[in-house]
Amino acid sequence: MHDLDICIAGGGVIGLSLALELHRRGLSVTVLEQGQPLSEASTAAAGMLAASDPDNPAALRKLSDLSLSLYPAFLDRLDELSGIRVPFHTSATLQAHLAPPSNELSTEALADALPQLTSNNRHFTLIDERSLDPRHLAEAVLTAVRATSIDLRTGTRVLSVQSVGDSVEVQTSTGAFHAARFINCTGAWASQSSLAPGLAIAPRKGQMLAVALPPSLPLHLVLRTHGMYIVPRTTGPHAGRAIIGATIEDAGFDKTVHSKDIAHLRSLANAFLPVLSEARQLEAWAGLRPSSPDGLPFLGAMPESRNQFVAAGHYRNGILLTPATAHVMAQLLAGESPSIDLADYSPSRPLPSSPIAQ
Ligand code: FAD
Ligand code: GLY
Repeated sequence: MHDLDICIAGGGVIGLSLALELHRRGLSVTVLEQGQPLSEASTAAAGMLAASDPDNPAALRKLSDLSLSLYPAFLDRLDELSGIRVPFHTSATLQAHLAPPSNELSTEALADALPQLTSNNRHFTLIDERSLDPRHLAEAVLTAVRATSIDLRTGTRVLSVQSVGDSVEVQTSTGAFHAARFINCTGAWASQSSLAPGLAIAPRKGQMLAVALPPSLPLHLVLRTHGMYIVPRTTGPHAGRAIIGATIEDAGFDKTVHSKDIAHLRSLANAFLPVLSEARQLEAWAGLRPSSPDGLPFLGAMPESRNQFVAAGHYRNGILLTPATAHVMAQLLAGESPSIDLADYSPSRPLPSSPIAQ
């Protein structure tokens, strides 16, 4: 016997956006969040929709492209429910390469795109790519969820999940829930305890900072190298600031911000844009990326289970992949054929023995 259709663990952008999509399809949904919603990786992110980042695994492309195609309608739906319009802040990324790419920008075009840039013997391409402010997205998602009948329980930690006949029994810090299906959307925590033993997800820490851009640097595009990126906020209350990121660290669940790491990020950024050395630091923070050994998310039914699912492990691209994740997971749960082949993201796919470096 179950009281609701879907029980989701994890109130990050993945869990809450999936809840919205399932609710839209007429299902009763409860989201269980151990702390406060949207207070972990989803609001630590830079907000690049970096489908063409050369560091991405090739197999991420089809999910990324699906997500990009769904983004405008996703933002429209959030606006309808929440009254909050989340804008794109940039529409181009200047990507640095160590070796000359075939479509390298000429020196003149580079100077046109970003006159203040010191190229440091790197080669650049200009990519069509957007970014948004994940904190603004989070505000819209949460307001949208609260405008629906989705039951969002904060301070409710999922301890274990067990299939019992046609139902799942979910034990939590505040009592038991019974649902037809359970979906694990707990990000970097997804393979903890008895939630999903055997799922290979580990936290990868990212520290970053925000600076006030100097008036001499009106930045309207993202600058990205292999180890550093600068993402400007160009509109809204945070216009005129830029995010500089990010470290990639295996440090367990530690989120301490270290001034030496922040200073290192600043020095990497200053090497490309010397004018940034005068930029005032506004904030610094750290978040935990949910990483998998091959850099791809796990989307689908848990092995040997009909009613336990997972949507986690979005690593460096969870903001990009949110609309597609909600879309294909809702299709799977409805018994429809997903819009793209999900084999590369299967929870039972073979995995490399050592994790990808990036
Ligand atoms: P989270 O937002 O971490 O949410 C998981 C939730 O589950 C948390 O609220 C947690 O409290 C809850 N939870 C955990 N365990 C339990 C439990 N047992 N019971 C109940 N609740 C539980 N992505 C991009 O697309 N573009 C970017 O530019 C970008 N930049 C990034 C920069 C940094 C520094 C970091 C850290 C990440 C970045 N990302 C970026 C990645 C993106 O932030 C993540 O992939 C995405 O936010 C993951 O969302 P999530 O909902 O799975 O996880
Ligand atoms: N996608 C940016 C990061 O993970 O740092």
